[in-house]
Amino acid sequence: MQVIESIEKMQSMAISLRLEGHLIGFVPTMGCLHQGHLSLIDRAKNSSDKVIVSIFVNPTQFGPNEDFDRYPRLLKEDLKLCEEAGVDIVFCPSMNDMYPEGYSTYVDEVFVGKDLCGISRPNFFRGVSTICVKLFNLVRPDFSYFGKKDAQQCAVIKKVVNDLNIATEIIECETVREPDGLAMSSRNRYLTEAQRADALAISKALFHAKDMVANGADNADRIIAEITHELAKFRRIRIIYVQVVDSVSMKAVRTILPKKTIVCVAAWVDEVRLIDNIEL
Ligand code: PAJ
Repeated sequence: MQVIESIEKMQSMAISLRLEGHLIGFVPTMGCLHQGHLSLIDRAKNSSDKVIVSIFVNPTQFGPNEDFDRYPRLLKEDLKLCEEAGVDIVFCPSMNDMYPEGYSTYVDEVFVGKDLCGISRPNFFRGVSTICVKLFNLVRPDFSYFGKKDAQQCAVIKKVVNDLNIATEIIECETVREPDGLAMSSRNRYLTEAQRADALAISKALFHAKDMVANGADNADRIIAEITHELAKFRRIRIIYVQVVDSVSMKAVRTILPKKTIVCVAAWVDEVRLIDNIEL
């Protein structure tokens, strides 16, 4: 496994891999890797012959009062996990190389990323879109793998890639959960035992909503009311949003359509912000 820090080296490596006829699979991450990330790497291993993982905690997607400074950085452990997973190249650029002084270009998708997390984290998708486009330009992947855990991020990146004619195919991968249902996330390590116990209510409420739909419920308001009611029982939880949306446009819908509709939740568990969603 090769570890590349330099932008120039990554770019020339990507070009020569392509010239040699390799199919490049790319998994962008912010590190602190867990089974969710590893499932993306596994998918990439299955459909590409060179797998590139990027590890970069992207400052432009964090708000001024968010956790950029304390976001877990575990490069040594991450490299070991990548090596064991059979990754070919890990790209971990420096902040200064990605955003040198005077950097001033941003990618701003203004429709799909507008609601939900777009409201509570105003610059988040602009930061995510900008870093992903930069990484796509450097890595030139045939396939890029994103987790459905971050459903709005998937939808925004798909829209950006389509709108800007970027030659990579976005592959969406299923959410990996802990055995009890909690969606895996690098931020779960912020949770105390008591907070983690309450956080479990989020996935439980989502599974309950899916059951309601399986049993004939098709009204979005009923689903939202039920999830809100379930989460209100936990004193550590404060809801940021509960919304039933179309999974492509991420716009609210009133009626649930199988395979097209997801319900998304963002909530604070004390000071830890968690998101999760499920297809209805
Ligand atoms: P990060 O949170 O490290 O996640 C990297 C990728 O792993 C994302 O596509 C995310 O959706 C996926 N992922 C995280 N938890 C998952 C889970 N439990 N199951 C399946 N996939 C999961 O998302 C980011 O980083 C950044 O915004 C990034 C795209 C790298 C841009 O900076």
